[in-house]
Amino acid sequence: MSKVILVTGANAGIGFELTRLLAEKGHTVYIGARNAVSGKEAAESLQKKGFTTVKFVQLDVTKLPTIQAAAALIGSAEGHLDVLVNNAGIAKFGHDENATTIALETIRDAMETNFYGLIQTTQTFLPLLRKSSNGVIVNVTTDMASNAFQARPDAQLHVVAYNTSKAAMNSYSIALAHELKKDGIKVNLVTPGFTSTKLNSFGDGGKTTTDGALSILPWALLDKDGPTCLFVDWNGKEFPW
Ligand SMILES: NC(=O)c1ccc[n+]([C@@H]2O[C@H](COP(=O)([O-])OP(=O)(O)OC[C@H]3O[C@@H](n4cnc5c(N)ncnc54)[C@H](OP(=O)(O)O)[C@@H]3O)[C@@H](O)[C@H]2O)c1
Repeated sequence: MSKVILVTGANAGIGFELTRLLAEKGHTVYIGARNAVSGKEAAESLQKKGFTTVKFVQLDVTKLPTIQAAAALIGSAEGHLDVLVNNAGIAKFGHDENATTIALETIRDAMETNFYGLIQTTQTFLPLLRKSSNGVIVNVTTDMASNAFQARPDAQLHVVAYNTSKAAMNSYSIALAHELKKDGIKVNLVTPGFTSTKLNSFGDGGKTTTDGALSILPWALLDKDGPTCLFVDWNGKEFPW
């Protein structure tokens, strides 16, 4: 059955590729993008390739009125939302991310998008998700936000703004998953692992965006009796919180 899906931050990177993979399966997919020009271009590039179920909606996760307008648009066009993929994210790499010296502003910026942005997007779309017969939320996280993983003596990449904002989001997602059980809405977190994208200046050695998106795909298309409150990696295996 065709689903109605919103992927935030889908004008580029993993979100864009995930949109393509979902549209390939015939689902109606909204590309949520903060930049209208880039969002429309992304949607049109897929429509021209025959993915006619791809649509664009302007949405900046840090700006509540844009999220509310996006929910109103999808609500009037579709009546409900089956799947919300909270994919939009920033990393602040290139800024000082050392625990002892990081500027609070760097952490606040990361929190605005990766944490508060995700919360207000989720809360705003919940009424539409509750109208679905199989509501699903996928929060795109990172293995670098695993406290258990990062606390190991050999762990590296202690990038404070990115990791803490995503770890806070992970914690929020646990509470969300428990609260939404009564509504039958599943909430899971997926880390695609290192993927070469704009986020990391297209760093060498990362996965392709197709492989990154493929790790998220099955979690977006979960069955009604699928699991909730899992943190999984690119192999679909549970990852330590
Ligand atoms: N790449 C990796 O190695 C990796 C690993 C683990 C997890 N992840 C996660 O995967 C997700 C996708 O990242 P990516 O690697 O595909 O990076 P990306 O290519 O930089 O894509 C990030 C997307 O988020 C959008 N975005 C940023 N701030 C936004 C806002 N306020 N409102 C709406 N959209 C916003 C960006 O829009 P603009 O184009 O306008 O900037 C872009 O479309 C992120 O949550 C990231 O943390 C990535």
